Amino acid sequence: MTLYSLRKTTTSHHRHVNNFVSPPIGNTVIVRQVAAPGRPTGDAPKLTLWLMSEQAMLPEEKSDLTPESMVKGMVKLVSLPHVCIRVNLMVDDPKYSATEIGEVISQDAALTARLLRVANSSFYGFQSKISTISRAVTVIGFRELRDLVVAVSAVRTFSNIPMDLENMAAFWRHSIFTGIVSRLLSKQCRILHSERLFVAGVLHDLGQLVIFHKVPDLANKTLKRIKLTGEETYIAERTIIGFDHAEIGAELVKSWHLPKSLEDTIRFHHTPELAVENPVDTAIVHIANIISDIAEEHENDRKRHYERIHPEAWRVTGLSENVIDSIICEAHPLLFEGLALIMPGD
Ligand SMILES: [Fe+2]
Ligand SMILES: [Fe+2]
Repeated sequence: MTLYSLRKTTTSHHRHVNNFVSPPIGNTVIVRQVAAPGRPTGDAPKLTLWLMSEQAMLPEEKSDLTPESMVKGMVKLVSLPHVCIRVNLMVDDPKYSATEIGEVISQDAALTARLLRVANSSFYGFQSKISTISRAVTVIGFRELRDLVVAVSAVRTFSNIPMDLENMAAFWRHSIFTGIVSRLLSKQCRILHSERLFVAGVLHDLGQLVIFHKVPDLANKTLKRIKLTGEETYIAERTIIGFDHAEIGAELVKSWHLPKSLEDTIRFHHTPELAVENPVDTAIVHIANIISDIAEEHENDRKRHYERIHPEAWRVTGLSENVIDSIICEAHPLLFEGLALIMPGD
């Protein structure tokens, strides 16, 4: 077999590199990495032999799963608390007052305590102490509080279900950091109600938890494939499962009757160029997600993530790579508090 017969499978982790993967020869595939057209060649193209350990390179053959069935199959487990659903509906109905919404939230003591902690945290920096939920509704705003109720309730819901995911702490750290960065970026873009971006950031990868809960064997197969190929998670998921966590997350949010903008933002957080209705929100979470990955890297390895940010995301937000370092500095001190505020337990 010549290299010319290798089949291009997908772009790898780096947008400027294409992986050409041969059909399997026994349990081995040949992978040739070449620079994408118009991109700097960098290192010489690489030729690698990959062992397909436990068939990790191969897609699932007869999967009849769909994003909808993944979500439907766990309706009970991942349904939001009654209070959260009620509040969500009341916020969009002008006939309800702050007091009435406060009364409904107060039926859930744990949620009330957590929201008051958030309201009194340096996230908001209010001078005087907020001691009732109806006061929090008035000061923070109806929609913003609704968004916080959703974030707190969703994280609580997912923390209660069994999960075959080794590093849950890392998952939530990534999610909450993405929320914090989304909120900071939305302020730079002068977007109103920046709280919804915080929530979108916190919830953007929830679909991954559904995958780990519902089909842990496929989740592990996906992880193995990522280790071998260096692909982004959503690309490997599409190969192994047939669709990705972004679609599942969007279906989940849809089943909770949350705003369409949140659904879109989650659905397109890896493909912001496809977000027709909510391009700015989506672009912000797309950028924040990658900044969150950058923040976890050693400084020398950071630049390689920059090209994962879609040019369209920079264009619609009017932001540029220059914001990355300063946003990471600004977001870091908020992470500890964000985790303490949103995560269940004390
Ligand atoms: Fe994601
Ligand atoms: Fe993510």
